[in-house]
Amino acid sequence: MQIAIIGAGNVGRALTTAWRRAGHTVTLGVRAGGDEPARTFATSLGADVARPGDAAANAGTIVLALPWAAAESVVGELGGLAGKTVIDCMNPIARTPLGMGLALGHDTSGGEQVAAWLPDAHVVKTLNQVGAEIMADASGFPVPPAMFMAGDNEPAKARVAVLLADLGFEPLDAGDITKARLLEPYALVWINQAIARGKGRNWALAALERGARS
Ligand SMILES: NC(=O)c1ccc[n+]([C@@H]2O[C@H](COP(=O)([O-])OP(=O)(O)OC[C@H]3O[C@@H](n4cnc5c(N)ncnc54)[C@H](OP(=O)(O)O)[C@@H]3O)[C@@H](O)[C@H]2O)c1
Repeated sequence: MQIAIIGAGNVGRALTTAWRRAGHTVTLGVRAGGDEPARTFATSLGADVARPGDAAANAGTIVLALPWAAAESVVGELGGLAGKTVIDCMNPIARTPLGMGLALGHDTSGGEQVAAWLPDAHVVKTLNQVGAEIMADASGFPVPPAMFMAGDNEPAKARVAVLLADLGFEPLDAGDITKARLLEPYALVWINQAIARGKGRNWALAALERGARS
């Protein structure tokens, strides 16, 4: 697939690494000033670098790997993205009186906000649930780690499921985009264990089933 990844930080680079390894075409969308380190990284993997709008214009699947605070303005520069699949892997992380939390939730979600900004695109919330290291390499676990996705467009979710499997995850459909309300707090389960509870970053959650499926 032709994939544009907007944001060349931890997540953007992890996904570039793994999807290039799986044979996908990847362009990293970076802003002016971020070109050179990103270009060196991308070139080493046979990926390209472009401005975010140009990267998105030439791809069928666009991944948003940005800090939440930058998301709305960057998305606004991408054009309408009509009919394209947009993977939202951002978590609207915020400092709260209880420590790390979410800037919004319960009656909306980051995924729904992104879908509202891009009404003609097919937004799928996923790849927000484990650390970037696991996205770069999900091998070596006894079973594939689970990766939930939420979105309204079934063909888009089917395409994303292929991309998740290529990363080594078991794709699990959580339902429509409102289920991003579940997936964003769920990400905090991993973050809390990894950071606050000292479990580190080299682990993931999996879906275990007992008995045969009916
Ligand atoms: N890190 C993880 O393990 C992890 C796991 C799951 C989900 N997430 C979520 O994924 C998102 C990205 O996380 P990250 O750790 O990859 O963040 P990061 O390392 O800080 O990278 C963010 C990237 O976004 C770029 N960016 C910021 N503002 C921009 C703008 N206005 N235009 C274009 N690019 C811009 C930055 O570019 P510059 O270098 O030019 O500033 C940087 O390359 C976050 O929403 C996070 O919650 C992270």
